[in-house]
Amino acid sequence: MPLALQGKVAVITGSTVGIGKAGAIGFAREGAKVVVSGRSRQRGEEVVDAIKKQGGEASFITADMLAVADIERLIKKAVAAYDRLDIFWHNAGIVGPDNVEDITEEIYDNMMAVHLKAAVFGAKFAVPEIRRAGGGSILFTGSIAGLKQASYSMTYSLAKSGLVMLARKLAVDLARDNIRVNCICPGRVETERRVAIAGQKAQELGITKEEWVKRDIQRIPLGRYVTEQEVISAALFLVSDKASSITGVALPIDGGFLAV
Ligand SMILES: NC(=O)c1ccc[n+]([C@@H]2O[C@H](COP(=O)([O-])OP(=O)(O)OC[C@H]3O[C@@H](n4cnc5c(N)ncnc54)[C@H](OP(=O)(O)O)[C@@H]3O)[C@@H](O)[C@H]2O)c1
Repeated sequence: MPLALQGKVAVITGSTVGIGKAGAIGFAREGAKVVVSGRSRQRGEEVVDAIKKQGGEASFITADMLAVADIERLIKKAVAAYDRLDIFWHNAGIVGPDNVEDITEEIYDNMMAVHLKAAVFGAKFAVPEIRRAGGGSILFTGSIAGLKQASYSMTYSLAKSGLVMLARKLAVDLARDNIRVNCICPGRVETERRVAIAGQKAQELGITKEEWVKRDIQRIPLGRYVTEQEVISAALFLVSDKASSITGVALPIDGGFLAV
């Protein structure tokens, strides 16, 4: 059976760790040439090594999503390396404080820049290249925080909800170019970051990490966190030809959290 992304070139922002790293490895396993990106060269090169060890093709390009010039350079260098671009997945993300009183102008600006501004400018630079390749896919990593008011950082929720609307808007505008644009909205995913958050929250409440996780997953109908691989399966589906008629959607991957 042919691989789902054979011959495709994919740029994935925020792929030095976590969901993006798993995505880079997963996309490469499906035949894509993957451009791994983030600020940490060391971690990025480790991802590239892991892909090459499994027989895949990848390279690392450092880029800070706070800098539009870096985003433009990322796309240009990716196309210079592989001659085309089929998939742009903006996955980089940060977390912020929960309360309005704790917001500073810098926190607000960074949150909007890393998630939303980088998505807009990433699309701006990626679209002409994907069009030149005859069409392809743009994917954003949103969050259930962008779909439902829950206990998430205010600025994070605002930025993630913006990605849902951006995906819809671009899906309509770019449909004639055969460019599909979608947003994945993970719930709580079992990542290094999740483990760190669990430790911090448990400490604040004076309980063990295990006890905090037990309480936390009670709100999820499937009774567990989502795995990185489950997020990657959805991402892979949406960028592949298997989803050739799907554009403008915000797909929750949340163990049923939004259904409650
Ligand atoms: N984990 C969850 O439960 C969960 C749930 C819903 C949505 N999400 C979303 O999924 C995405 C990945 O989450 P994760 O848990 O895998 O996060 P993570 O482990 O904290 O990784 C974040 C990634 O973003 C990159 N990044 C952060 N700031 C950047 C900047 N200024 N410029 C370039 N890259 C930057 C980091 O790379 P460098 O440090 O190398 O720059 C890293 O690769 C995020 O958009 C997040 O909001 C996560």
